[in-house]
Amino acid sequence: MQRETVLTVSDLIWPLFVTDGEGVEDPVQSLPGVSRWSVDGIVKRAREAVDLGIPCIALFPNTPESARSEDGAEALNPDNLMCRAIKAVRDACGSDIGILTDVALDPYTSHGQDGLVNEDGYVLNDDTVAVLVDQALVQADAGADIVAPSDMMDGRVKAIRMALEMNGHPNVQIMSYAAKYASAFYGPFRDAVGSGGLLKGDKKSYQMDPANGDEALREIALDIAEGADSVMVKPGLAYLDVIWRAKQAFGVPVYAYQVSGEYALIEAGAAAGIGDRDALLMEKLVAFKRAGCSGVLTYHAPVAARLLNG
Ligand code: PBG
Repeated sequence: MQRETVLTVSDLIWPLFVTDGEGVEDPVQSLPGVSRWSVDGIVKRAREAVDLGIPCIALFPNTPESARSEDGAEALNPDNLMCRAIKAVRDACGSDIGILTDVALDPYTSHGQDGLVNEDGYVLNDDTVAVLVDQALVQADAGADIVAPSDMMDGRVKAIRMALEMNGHPNVQIMSYAAKYASAFYGPFRDAVGSGGLLKGDKKSYQMDPANGDEALREIALDIAEGADSVMVKPGLAYLDVIWRAKQAFGVPVYAYQVSGEYALIEAGAAAGIGDRDALLMEKLVAFKRAGCSGVLTYHAPVAARLLNG
């Protein structure tokens, strides 16, 4: 009766990995219980989400090796895996499900960086923004409801917003990965999209230093000023203070990304007998709500939804 915080199914966003082929389910070794699905399987997962009451899915492509290149041009192909998945889900589920898409080049580049690089492998901010704009438009044309730039280039939210407005997509939202840290918790994700083995160097020239909280607020302020509808803090649990401060400071919808390493740690902890998987999971998820989140991206979304639905 006096509970302050309530976690509901409508707080969940379910990230899904798309892979090539048909009838393919390809388990991600480092994420027990998570698979890459071909487009037909993604449609089934989307229907499952609708049935469970999950309002939104987030799509990430495992681009075939042959389609990856130095400049990540496959990101702009209107017939790429991502766009085919968006269209198929939209055809099957109509407006019953929200589709959130990842804007960044790492699933498409041969070097695994989120943007275009120079000879030294340094990621070029402004050149990259120009490509991200086109990538966001291709996804919006395919039917995305929310584009989510996860690349951490400066100025991309404004550039994408302007392009959406001028190209017939005034209602497509932007969820900005505004405070995204250069984290050790992304390893299993990089396995899942096949960028881990390719990655040269690290992402510290554009992702944030885990020691910085004030800087996160400056990043978030910029993205809101540029037109972000909602902002994300990523990873989740280690950054609850940033979530709290962002919500207090700006009052906008704040989302946490409970990332792949967080998922894997819960599964590994439970498998090692440290605690009950469901209890560990639900305690962490409610913490995001308590800290001020409007919702959480979590690979555990269907598990949590089943628990919440009883
Ligand atoms: C990159 C991207 C990453 C994740 C989402 N988008 C990894 C990275 O920055 O290398 C990680 C998500 C997760 O670990 O679950 N555009």
